[in-house]
Amino acid sequence: MTDTTIEQATAAASGAAATEQFRSKQRAGTTDVDTKRVDTLVSDLLSATHEIIRRHKVTYAEYDALKSWLIRVGEDGEWPLFLDVWVEHVVEEVANENREGSKGTIEGPYYVPDSPRLPAEATLPMRDGEQGTALLFQGQVRSVDGTGLAGATIEMWHADNDGLYSQFAPGLPEWNLRGTVVADDQGDFKIHTVEPAPYQIPTDGSCGRLIAAAGWHAWRPAHLHLKVSAPGHQLITTQLYFKGGEHVVDDIASAVKPELILDPSPVAEGTGREVTYDFVLDKA
Ligand code: DHB
Ligand code: FE
Repeated sequence: MTDTTIEQATAAASGAAATEQFRSKQRAGTTDVDTKRVDTLVSDLLSATHEIIRRHKVTYAEYDALKSWLIRVGEDGEWPLFLDVWVEHVVEEVANENREGSKGTIEGPYYVPDSPRLPAEATLPMRDGEQGTALLFQGQVRSVDGTGLAGATIEMWHADNDGLYSQFAPGLPEWNLRGTVVADDQGDFKIHTVEPAPYQIPTDGSCGRLIAAAGWHAWRPAHLHLKVSAPGHQLITTQLYFKGGEHVVDDIASAVKPELILDPSPVAEGTGREVTYDFVLDKA
C-alpha cells in the first residue's frame, strides 16, 4: 500500500470518472421512456415522498439539509455511486427474477467495456509484485441445458489490495485487474489474479457524509465483478464474494446472495488459493 495512492483517491475524482463512464455507456433505452410510464413512476415516487414527510413531520431544517445534500451529490459526481449502492440491487432483482441460470447482482459504477482480450487460461493485467493473495478462479460456462459454451467470454474487473479500481483511482495502470477471458471449446476458463480487498465508499464526498450522518458503515465485502456472455444466451452481470470475509453479512450495497459466496481452498503447490465456479446462462 502506498500512502500517496490513498491520499490522491478522492471522492470527487472517482465520482467524476464514474459519471463520465456512465455517460459514455448510455444503456439502450435510457432516453426513450414512454410518457405514461414517466407519469406513473414519478407520481408514485413523489407520493411516497409526501407520505414520508407527513408521517415523520419533516421540518424546514431537514428539508433544507436534504436540498443542500442533493446539490452536493451532483457537484461531487456521486450520483452513480449513490444509486448503485442504495438502489440498483432492487432493479437487478426485478430485471432477473425469471432467470433459471446463475444468479446476477449489481454492476456498480466501475465497469469499463473493452478490457484486453485474453486466452482461456490467463493472468489478469497486473503490476510487478501486485499485492494480495494469489487466486486461481476457474470453471465452465454452460447453457441451462448443460452444454459447455464455446467462445463464451468472462469479463472480470475488481479492486486491488488497497480496495482501489483502475481508471477510477489515480496511479494504477489503465487495465490493472481488468480483462476479457475467452473460454475454450468446452466453455472452460482459468483466470489467475489476486484477491481484492474490501471496498470502502469514499468517505470525503456526499455519500460519505450521508453515511456518517446516519451512523452507518461504508463498506462492501471484497468482491470480483463479472460479465459472462455467450452466443445465443443472455449476458449475466454478477459479483462473487469470499466466505468469512468482512462485511459479507452487512454489505452496504445489499448485493450479496448466498449463491455468490466462494469458498476457495489453499492451492496444492505454491502459495495462494483456488476456487471453481461454473456459470449457467439462460437462452436468449
Ligand atoms: C460501488 C462500488 C463498488 O465497487 C460496487 O461494486 C458497487 C457500488 C459504489 O461506490 O457505489
Ligand atoms: Fe465493486
